[in-house]
Amino acid sequence: YSLQNSNSFNIAVSCSQLYLVETLEELLALPELCYGDFYILGDGSNTLFVEPAAPVIIKPAFKGITVNETKSHYKVTVGAAENWHDLVSFCIEHGINGLENLALIPGSVGAAPVQNIGAYGVEFADFCLEVSYFDLITKQLKALSAQECKFSYRDSIFKNCLHNRALITELVLLFPKAWQANLNYSGLDVLPVNVDAKVVMNKVIELRQSKLPDPKKLPNAGSFFKNPIVSQEKFLQIQTKYPQIPHYPQSKGNVKLAAGWLIEQSGLKGFRFKGVGVDQRQALVLVNYENGTGQDLITLAKFVQQQVFEMFSVKIIPEVRMVSAQGEVHFEKLNG
Ligand code: EPU
Repeated sequence: YSLQNSNSFNIAVSCSQLYLVETLEELLALPELCYGDFYILGDGSNTLFVEPAAPVIIKPAFKGITVNETKSHYKVTVGAAENWHDLVSFCIEHGINGLENLALIPGSVGAAPVQNIGAYGVEFADFCLEVSYFDLITKQLKALSAQECKFSYRDSIFKNCLHNRALITELVLLFPKAWQANLNYSGLDVLPVNVDAKVVMNKVIELRQSKLPDPKKLPNAGSFFKNPIVSQEKFLQIQTKYPQIPHYPQSKGNVKLAAGWLIEQSGLKGFRFKGVGVDQRQALVLVNYENGTGQDLITLAKFVQQQVFEMFSVKIIPEVRMVSAQGEVHFEKLNG
């Protein structure tokens, strides 16, 4: 099965076994899979296939959106295979506010909790009540509360102890009816405080379209690297040399830096290698201009990581997940 149209980098890759699952019976009928020797693929917008062959692919197909209402809240239950942006649009159309800052993020609903997607000052965890999943080892359906999901910046239990074990089937999101726009992020602060959610959503769409390449026109997976979090001491060292460095204070005195800025300062914005390159507008995004392979992107990513390290002594780590024919692989284990 070709997966070229199922990964937003548009890498030419195929798999020999593909399981589409949308019922408990289908989950129970999955063959015994060796640990890690498969990959759960959503819409493929945060995945880089590093070889022309993919492992066994399991694709969740759970659909549906239902809304329940109490005096103070809306509770939205949604299947993992729904598209994230369609969910955001559905909510805003139905007067359920909260997800507007997360508009236009590519990918499926089921992928949202895995890396706790976030943008414009809001993250998935802010509205998560519960995540249901099928445990591929015990073969049981389970549910975790938001707290049990252990969300942090682009991270959750699904990337750690439940990695290669949990197939997310459904989410429950909770939205307080008492809503206030979150306009703290630069670009949204131009809006009036009493703005409605639809206007915020449209502004977010406009900002994203002005900064981020459209994967349908120029294949990419959004931010390729995570923004690194460094100690206060490290940050001050860099700031002495580069007073204009963008920075975002975190807990415990740590500081988040903008990887896109670090890459741009390293002189790599717009840099090209074979058919791939660093985007010309947003240096945090790697793009596939023409027939690039997974290996080309890995070589480029290693080069970017190394250049940034040489200049700032800060190691930037990919946000995108790498998949070889044997299943998911750690970036560090790949050769450049
Ligand atoms: N910057 C540069 N040069 C660049 C890119 C960015 O100097 O080429 C500077 C910007 O001027 C700004 C700072 O870096 O001062 C941050 O840039 P931006 O606001 O564009 O956001 P980001 O940190 O690059 C993060 C998320 C995005 C999310 C935006 C908006 C990560 C890894 N990325 O990007 O998420 O849309 O904030 O909230 O946290 C994604 O994860 O795929 C993604 C697109």
